[in-house]
Amino acid sequence: MTAGLLKRSDEDGRSQTSATEIRIRDAAEADLPAIVEIHNEAIASRISSAQLDPVTVEGRREWFRVHSPMQYPIWVADLDGAIAGWLSFREFLPRCAYRDTVELSVYVSEQFRRRGVGRKLLQEAIARGPQLGMHSLVGLIFGHNEPSIALFRLAGFERWGLLPGVARVDEIPRDLTIFGRHI
Ligand SMILES: CC(C)(COP(=O)(O)OP(=O)(O)OC[C@H]1O[C@@H](n2cnc3c(N)ncnc32)[C@H](O)[C@@H]1OP(=O)(O)O)[C@@H](O)C(=O)NCCC(=O)NCCS
Repeated sequence: MTAGLLKRSDEDGRSQTSATEIRIRDAAEADLPAIVEIHNEAIASRISSAQLDPVTVEGRREWFRVHSPMQYPIWVADLDGAIAGWLSFREFLPRCAYRDTVELSVYVSEQFRRRGVGRKLLQEAIARGPQLGMHSLVGLIFGHNEPSIALFRLAGFERWGLLPGVARVDEIPRDLTIFGRHI
């Protein structure tokens, strides 16, 4: 699972092409510290995670172990030998009729943002989801999370729902949007 050439912009906004490769693979438990570190950056930003307190490696071990490569995998994106981001799948709703609709979350290290990592992870989910028995993908995204909404729209997701003011983040009411696409 590799991406070829990567387009990015320099400080003047001009497009550059580098030969850096984004490699997507199943996460190993040894990746958990990097996964947790990236997650904690996002938690601190207050726009991207409904988890409000920092997570720990030990606290996430059980979460990691209930995922498997064939059902609800966790993938990491390897860039220049570092873990640049990750994507995880989980059950959308427990009722049988929703079995093949899956919720996904995607997180990219601040250090590696705007280099196509998030896009590559979503593209991989769209391409490989059917082999994993999925027919629809859903992302639950805060209404004020503009980077993520832009990314999901770019990957062909549409806004399927809005739950106004259902979250409280530091006492501020926040909307939850539901972005989805059939695959
Ligand atoms: C959202 C997130 C995953 C994007 O990852 P990324 O690797 O930086 O995204 P990409 O480089 O693949 O960007 C692809 C496109 O998404 C859009 N995009 C990404 N970040 C953006 C930003 N900060 N502002 C506006 N658009 C943005 C752009 O259209 C971008 O294309 P471009 O760079 O050619 O303009 C990353 O910002 C992140 O990890 N945020 C915290 C976690 C989070 O919010 N996850 C979503 C909840 S599931």
